[in-house]
Amino acid sequence: MQKIAVIGAGTMGNGIAHVFAQNGFQVHLIDVAEAALQKALQTIGKNLDRQVAKGTVTEALKTETLANITTFTDIATGVKEADLVVEAATENINLKLKIFQDLDQHAKPDTILATNTSSISITKIAAVTKRPGKVIGMHFMNPVPVMKLVEIINGYATEKEVTKTIVALSEKLGKVPCVVNDYPGFIANRILMPMINEAIYSLFEGVAGIAEIDTVMKLGMAHPMGPLQLADFIGLDVCLSILNVLHDGFGNPKYAPCPLLVNMVTAGYLGAKSGEGFYKYT
Ligand code: CAA
Repeated sequence: MQKIAVIGAGTMGNGIAHVFAQNGFQVHLIDVAEAALQKALQTIGKNLDRQVAKGTVTEALKTETLANITTFTDIATGVKEADLVVEAATENINLKLKIFQDLDQHAKPDTILATNTSSISITKIAAVTKRPGKVIGMHFMNPVPVMKLVEIINGYATEKEVTKTIVALSEKLGKVPCVVNDYPGFIANRILMPMINEAIYSLFEGVAGIAEIDTVMKLGMAHPMGPLQLADFIGLDVCLSILNVLHDGFGNPKYAPCPLLVNMVTAGYLGAKSGEGFYKYT
């Protein structure tokens, strides 16, 4: 496996492209918007500069990494030679289903189609293709160049050989793969989102303030970020949408999103990306 196509040049897509390119893979980074591709290349360059400054990447590896990435705005051309496609487009089910129909049509018949979805059913995505056995979840964590985990999600029909290939590939990227099955929220978000929701409920009910809730969890549990800061980092709209997937998927009231979260998202307070969530960002 040498040629990797990455769909979507946003935060996750550019991080995924960065990590593959840094490990010697030829990456086709694909996005409908040329401006998004240019911005992604700049971000990858800046993140490589951080690594050079830390001494974890040499100038030569930085140059090689950037040279391994080619950009495309046309999905058919971008994926036609790929051995693996990793889709990291916006978390919208209809968009993802359409992308997977296109990928199924344009990628080689034996190409593995992976999705970085954080909560959409792999089985549902696979079902719109003629190769459900070759569809799998490859869930990277943000920031991708830093976080060690790849949550690998087997859809109902995913072939064992495909899982083995993706596990070995994730290890080649220097990541630690964990294989899980396709149920709402998989493992990462099934456990993370109720914690974030509980932190928001604690604020909503006046049990403690933002700083206190985050400090308790940072210093008491050695989390790198408190749950409210992490929610801002992930995006409050993303947290709400994942909680809705858990709530709908299990039909259990314990996953009902806190009304404060619903209000903040409705008002456009989405966290770091909108300039304000639980904290303000300049
Ligand atoms: N690319 C490359 N390197 C980066 C980077 C990036 N985008 N962002 C940060 N870094 C590096 C820095 O160079 C630094 O390296 P060293 O450890 O070698 O010094 C290191 O990461 C720490 O960076 P900073 O000092 O700038 O900042 P920090 O110490 O506050 O750490 C953080 C930043 C890594 C984001 C840390 O706060 C953290 O781990 N937070 C939690 C992240 C997390 O939980 N992510 C998962 C979110 S959930 C998700 O992604 C999935 C989902 O489905 C919702």
